[in-house]
Amino acid sequence: MATNRTFTMLKPDSVEKGYIGAILEKINATGFRIVAMKMTQMTVADAKEFYAIHSERPFFGELVEYMTRGPIIAAVLEKENAVEDFRALIGATNPAEAAEGTIRKMYAASMGENAVHGSDSDENAAIESAFHFSGREMF
Ligand code: PPS
Repeated sequence: MATNRTFTMLKPDSVEKGYIGAILEKINATGFRIVAMKMTQMTVADAKEFYAIHSERPFFGELVEYMTRGPIIAAVLEKENAVEDFRALIGATNPAEAAEGTIRKMYAASMGENAVHGSDSDENAAIESAFHFSGREMF
């Protein structure tokens, strides 16, 4: 996996509210190339594994319930400085603290339903991409 890639999920609230098109348009307009994408639904076991690093945090149960309640859009994005630039595009974890124009400011309701995920490092981008996609599904 090249280090100019990041992994994202448009979370169940984004899908439920019909925001997929608007969020993907913003991602494209910011210069990211979509190199893998699918709609999928995580099982409870999937979500527990994906978010294992947060298993001791008090919100873990809520996070797993939220992330498994409906389909998500999983995607791998390519751009120079992808991880950092995508974190800037999505904004702070808490949408109330997210900057104007960021995806979470525009489309997220709360800390617990914050519309979108973005990998926090090149290493995690590779791990998270491989969690959802085989090599043949990334272009
Ligand atoms: S980060 O990105 O790891 O620095 O963010 P962090 O604040 O550590 O949060 C890790 C993930 O947990 C989600 N989160 C929450 N879910 C439910 N309730 C509360 N209070 C809460 N706080 C944080 C947060 O959205 C992160 O999920 P991802 O998918 O990585 O964005």
